Amino acid sequence: MASYDVIVIGSGPGGYVCAIRCAQLGLKTACVEGRETLGGTCLNIGCIPSKALLHASHMLHEAEHNFAEMGLKGKSPSVDWDQMQSYKNGVIAQNTSGVEFLFKKNKIDWLKGWGSIPEAGKVKVGDDVHEAKNIVIATGSDVATLPGVEIDEQIVVSSTGALDLPKIPRKLVVIGAGVIGLELGSVYARLGSEVQVIEFLDAITPGQDKEVQRTFQKLLTKQGISFTLGAAVQSVEALKTKAKVTYKLRNDDSEHTIDADTVLVATGRKPFTDTLGLADAGIEMSERGQVKTNAHWQTNVPGIYAIGDVITGPMLAHKAEDEGMAVAETIAGQKPHINYGVIPGVIYTHPEVASVGETEETLKEKGHAYKAGKFSFMGNGRARANFAAEGFVKILADAKSDRILGAHVIGPMAGDLLHEICVAMEFGAAAEDLARTCHAHPTYSEAVREAALACGDGPIHS
Ligand code: NAI
Repeated sequence: MASYDVIVIGSGPGGYVCAIRCAQLGLKTACVEGRETLGGTCLNIGCIPSKALLHASHMLHEAEHNFAEMGLKGKSPSVDWDQMQSYKNGVIAQNTSGVEFLFKKNKIDWLKGWGSIPEAGKVKVGDDVHEAKNIVIATGSDVATLPGVEIDEQIVVSSTGALDLPKIPRKLVVIGAGVIGLELGSVYARLGSEVQVIEFLDAITPGQDKEVQRTFQKLLTKQGISFTLGAAVQSVEALKTKAKVTYKLRNDDSEHTIDADTVLVATGRKPFTDTLGLADAGIEMSERGQVKTNAHWQTNVPGIYAIGDVITGPMLAHKAEDEGMAVAETIAGQKPHINYGVIPGVIYTHPEVASVGETEETLKEKGHAYKAGKFSFMGNGRARANFAAEGFVKILADAKSDRILGAHVIGPMAGDLLHEICVAMEFGAAAEDLARTCHAHPTYSEAVREAALACGDGPIHS
């Protein structure tokens, strides 16, 4: 039995970042992880492998659609699926071993096994019980299944199975037009699958700015993905080599059945707390199965904290990372703060979709007077040169003070472009501050400046 200042349970982006920051702040730290490799869902079966497949399939798309026009002639590459999988697995291995290296460098003990909390101040891993002055629950989330749908990870898959399919399906039905459904739907559409997305609501990507939703759907449709909106999936019947998906259209209650080689269930995730024994430790949970915490990420039991997907807020790796650092600093006696109003969200399709802060819809709902400055990538020279002129940047600013309230980018490198706006928002900047900042030419970032100019006297290139 060892004794620690902090034991973090879970080594995803929330947990491993928390452990590293604890160690940097001089706390004796261990991290419990039952998986063979560190890094949690994000590194092993989430963000990182999906980005590898998105990159590879985007390269194929470029070769098939844009190479000839640039004078790059020759046969388009064919897909060696096994090799693409090894590339993806190599990327995972580099990242997970990178975390292991950082643990060693920071003298963090990796307690291998699944942890539980028998009582405050104690963490059980296998047969060993370790003592900890502070415990951080960072156990993440798991796939939320639908009633009438059983995931077998062969024919009916979650994102985990979809990253590891034995072959590229001829027909892929995706249930849910959220982030996972559209990212993985894009991968397989580019690799040649016929992709049909079935979504319960009347628009894709719930919560996004409506203009972005419409543009995004149009662009994905152009890429060959078909959408059935306002449709509630009733059941999925897995047969030997295919599945039958039955859904009901909400407008007329009519029932339809379609066949698929593979069905991806992407209807959300739920907090993962099953093996922790939280009831034994007396930790309060919400009705939604989340660990209840106060503004300092503390549970109702002194010395036990929770961060990331197991608590309230968006299920995003970077939100968990920020909370991980903040908890470490709290335990070390500092007074950290997270601005939950400036947490970016990115969908890594092509084009990318990135958003932060208010949407036009939330501002209208609040009766907040605003102005919208918009600039199309059609007016951006670099984007035109790179076959990336689809989409726009939209900045929402207070009608009177010009303070930036939100931003929405659909276009090339949107996820990277968004961050100058996030920094501006953290500093309480006005759109004019961005507009008066010199932006290098020719860059995609000029589109951000032009959108900021559009909040004032107008953009130059439109
Ligand atoms: P999501 O919440 O983004 O989307 C789920 C979609 O399924 C919604 O549009 C919902 O209306 C729809 N849906 C629910 N029940 C349905 C039914 N019976 N029939 C048809 N449609 C139905 O969830 P998703 O995509 O599974 O992602 C899970 C979590 O992982 C999210 O919180 C997401 O933010 C996170 N994530 C983030 C990524 C990123 O930041 N790039 C990448 C992947 C996941």
